[in-house]
Amino acid sequence: MQIQTKAVHVGDRKKPGPAIPVTTPIYTAASYFYEDMEQLDRIFAREEPGYCYSRYDNPTNVALEELITSLENGHGSLACASGMSAIQIALLAALNDRRKSIVAADALYGATINLLLKVLEPLGVEVTFVDLCDLEAVEKAVAEHRPGCVLMETVSNPLLRVGEMDRVARIAREAGAALVVDNTFATPLLVRPFEWGANLVVHSVTKFLAGHGDVLGGTVTSDAAHYDTLRTLSRAYGPVLGPFESYLTMRGIKTFPLRMERHCANASRVAAWLSENPAIERVHFPGDPAHPDSAAIRRLLPPGLYGAMVSFELKGARREEIFRFMERLKLVVRATSLGDVHSLILYPVMSSHREVPPAQRERLGIRDNLLRLSVGIEAVEDVIEDLGQALG
Ligand SMILES: Cc1ncc(COP(=O)(O)O)c(C=O)c1O
Repeated sequence: MQIQTKAVHVGDRKKPGPAIPVTTPIYTAASYFYEDMEQLDRIFAREEPGYCYSRYDNPTNVALEELITSLENGHGSLACASGMSAIQIALLAALNDRRKSIVAADALYGATINLLLKVLEPLGVEVTFVDLCDLEAVEKAVAEHRPGCVLMETVSNPLLRVGEMDRVARIAREAGAALVVDNTFATPLLVRPFEWGANLVVHSVTKFLAGHGDVLGGTVTSDAAHYDTLRTLSRAYGPVLGPFESYLTMRGIKTFPLRMERHCANASRVAAWLSENPAIERVHFPGDPAHPDSAAIRRLLPPGLYGAMVSFELKGARREEIFRFMERLKLVVRATSLGDVHSLILYPVMSSHREVPPAQRERLGIRDNLLRLSVGIEAVEDVIEDLGQALG
């Protein structure tokens, strides 16, 4: 071989021998080589398990997919490049052989509302928003629109509403619709939506599952009925996660239950402190016994685990006061995300729900004085002290 050929081939396509790596390595190969062409043919035909091309399957992604499937008690999963790509492909899988109509919770992450209104509706999908916490309204919307799919978040963004998932699932099932649940805020430590009748469960793993603010990714976990469609669509759309992000997500998940317990304990303390602060008009927190959905919360969430998210309204504050309050924070980070180890604060009207029409925001109760706090795993006294000094 001449040097140009050596440079290209030497060292590649080596089998690792009998040793099994203790943790999953990052497989960066785009495609896979087989000595035997018949075998490759069977793998392409999906008659035999195996890897041929990383848009179809990648060993690092498959390991993450198995892990998420196991946490969610689902049938199979797909690792996606972001939470949004996961939501999109989950909705497409749900609608694949059904009426192109979605009944969606009116309280959803802003980009999910955009996906529905700016991507799917222009493609001819009928979109109807309904208050998922009002079962009569859900029944009426489902009877009227005969949707192929119902979409909800376990704990909604940013007002932390909790719908009766099993009852919504029954209404969807009886109408022949699939229930797609975004479980990002709750995580499988708190709620496993398949146990409550969901068909497809989505995560932005960017948040609690990866947990360290250094990954963008998503997953869809499916029941048996939708799994083949999900994988077939994925081969065509190609929304897959990169193997490095897959590796980081698996690494994050190893400590996710420990982190989540701490997140929840800290959030309960912060919510209680905020609710006694005279500068605060209102606190939205699922652990509050006066929460409007307390009956659903008692049924769905384990006692004491109410999530890491606390939303609150600053008394009489307009945008200027909100900005000054946020700028005074020294520890809590002003940044657009949630679920990281560090506490993060966000102004929904400016960021996550910026593109939601003001009238819809007003109707949902996302007011101009609302802030959304993702409580981290720091010593909670330090978080409270920082909020206290910033509130002045
Ligand atoms: C509830 C929820 N779902 C989905 C997403 C989208 O996730 P990603 O940013 O990973 O695309 C977000 C992002 O904030 C979210 O809060």
